[in-house]
Amino acid sequence: MDKETGRLSLAQRGSAVKQSGKGNGNTTAPQEYLYTDEDFEFIRALVYRHAGISLSPAKRELVYARLIRRLRALGLPSFAQYCALLRQQENGGEELDHCINAITTNLTAFFREAYHFEFLKNTVIPELQERAKKSGGLRRVRIWSAGCSSGEEPYSIAMTLLPYFASGDWDCRILATDLDSDTLAIGERGVYPADRITGLSEEQLKRYFETVHVEGQRSVCYKVRPEVRAMVHFRRLNLMGQWPMKGSFDIIFCRNVVIYFDKPTQRRLFDRYADIMRDDGYLFIGHAESLFDVCNRFKFIAHTIYRRVG
Ligand SMILES: C[S@@+](CC[C@H](N)C(=O)[O-])C[C@H]1O[C@@H](n2cnc3c(N)ncnc32)[C@H](O)[C@@H]1O
Repeated sequence: MDKETGRLSLAQRGSAVKQSGKGNGNTTAPQEYLYTDEDFEFIRALVYRHAGISLSPAKRELVYARLIRRLRALGLPSFAQYCALLRQQENGGEELDHCINAITTNLTAFFREAYHFEFLKNTVIPELQERAKKSGGLRRVRIWSAGCSSGEEPYSIAMTLLPYFASGDWDCRILATDLDSDTLAIGERGVYPADRITGLSEEQLKRYFETVHVEGQRSVCYKVRPEVRAMVHFRRLNLMGQWPMKGSFDIIFCRNVVIYFDKPTQRRLFDRYADIMRDDGYLFIGHAESLFDVCNRFKFIAHTIYRRVG
């Protein structure tokens, strides 16, 4: 190793691969920075404590791949030094945020798991309209997209609701929260390149987006129209921390988020969701998630769709 930079020579990179003890059978390129089991264990524990994200030993190389750009940006020669910096920020700090942002998985899409939006349109909206009629005018609807990533999910909810709740008689708001400040900023901006515009019909595209030219982008981008944006309120929020909302949510979307949490963390989270929802509120979870053996305060309605009962 170069003593000044701490970087590995080509020959040493080969041995760093061995030290990394890849047990997942994947073949990966030799590593540029020294990365030990101790470094991985430290980052794993830190990410769990701060974000609730449970990284299995199989995620060792993924952590390396996601964090090397931070080492490059900071000009740090080794993961040991990066861990030392993070250690100083245990109680919060800019680098801790960058680290968590780099580790989170933000995969999302407009109208992902399309049947949820069909259910919203065909079952939930008519129920809310009926409730409003019976109660003589309760036209307040509160929805939470928890773990909203770059905004495609809350905007898809807004586009589904708009034709029904656009009039001034309805007070309909979608709270969109995520821990990752980078991805949240994309949602707030509401501008997407053409390759992110999938799952939308021609009609939706025309009605809810305008085309814009963004500096540095060769092809045209799509900007969510103001009437859709007005319904969605983005906030940074760590699901593991305090929740400032008092709210009584009618609907919570928490999809493809708890898949990264262990069972005790999932149990605490769904219990808190039940506490903050209306009695008969709807909960939508991701396609690979389930409340079985996690929370019995929700009744199964259909695949990944639940209703609060207790
Ligand atoms: C795979 S994305 C899912 C996005 C969207 N819900 C969907 O299904 O398309 C998971 C999101 O959960 C967020 N997340 C992970 N841990 C979190 C935490 N502790 N608090 C808030 N958000 C978290 C990540 O930042 C990421 O954007």
